[in-house]
Amino acid sequence: MKPEICVASNLTTLSRKASKIIFRVIRDSFRHKGFATVVLAGGSTPETLYRILVRKKSEIQSKIWERVYFFFGDERAVPPQSRFSNYRMAQGAMLRHLPVPPRNIFRVRSELGAAKAARDYEKRLRGFFKKDPFPRFDLVLLGLGEDGHTASLFPGSPALKEKKRWVLSTRVSSVKPPARITLTLPVLNSAENVMFLVSGSNKAWTAERILNRKEELPARKIQPRSGRLIWMLDHEAARFLKRRL
Ligand code: 6PG
Repeated sequence: MKPEICVASNLTTLSRKASKIIFRVIRDSFRHKGFATVVLAGGSTPETLYRILVRKKSEIQSKIWERVYFFFGDERAVPPQSRFSNYRMAQGAMLRHLPVPPRNIFRVRSELGAAKAARDYEKRLRGFFKKDPFPRFDLVLLGLGEDGHTASLFPGSPALKEKKRWVLSTRVSSVKPPARITLTLPVLNSAENVMFLVSGSNKAWTAERILNRKEELPARKIQPRSGRLIWMLDHEAARFLKRRL
């Protein structure tokens, strides 16, 4: 399925547009199943969106928020209170401000160390999604690295070849911290909705390589089998994209 491309003037308007789509997905999922599953992105880009979701949280009634389950697309193998922790960023910017019960937040127990944390996280996901061959998350949020990585799936990583496991630990010497835990491509591509949030001129060339040239960078391998793929970019990040994609 072709990706939907949405370009906004800056990160704030991009995040506002994204929040509207997210509220719609949560409401639809609640209507269809009585709950919603959302995978959060790490890094810095999503923080603006997370704060807007809190500011606009009354768009979703409390009784619905209580049935929203949050997961993480990836995590760094650091303690949850570390400044490098994706959980710490999401917890501080959003989760602690939403009427979501703590049991609904599936934190990667990164303090166990990457390999053990990956096994533990997969076990808990399988417990939640029961017998599904792969979990079908209602919404997966992703960021884009300048090298074309997404979640903690980096160029050349053996994790990109994984066909069965839901969660893997990886070690990436080019980034700090190097030890990571990540959802795998089969899981990400089983999602109902996948949304990339990309902001800043430093991502423009990478976005062009993926969306126009279709270079096989890790983020390009995100092609939901039967889900919706949305690329949300601000003007800076979209400046090399041709009009017609
Ligand atoms: C992480 C993220 C990673 C991130 C990109 C973009 O743990 O770092 O999952 O994939 O989304 O590196 O990061 P920025 O939003 O900080 O540019």
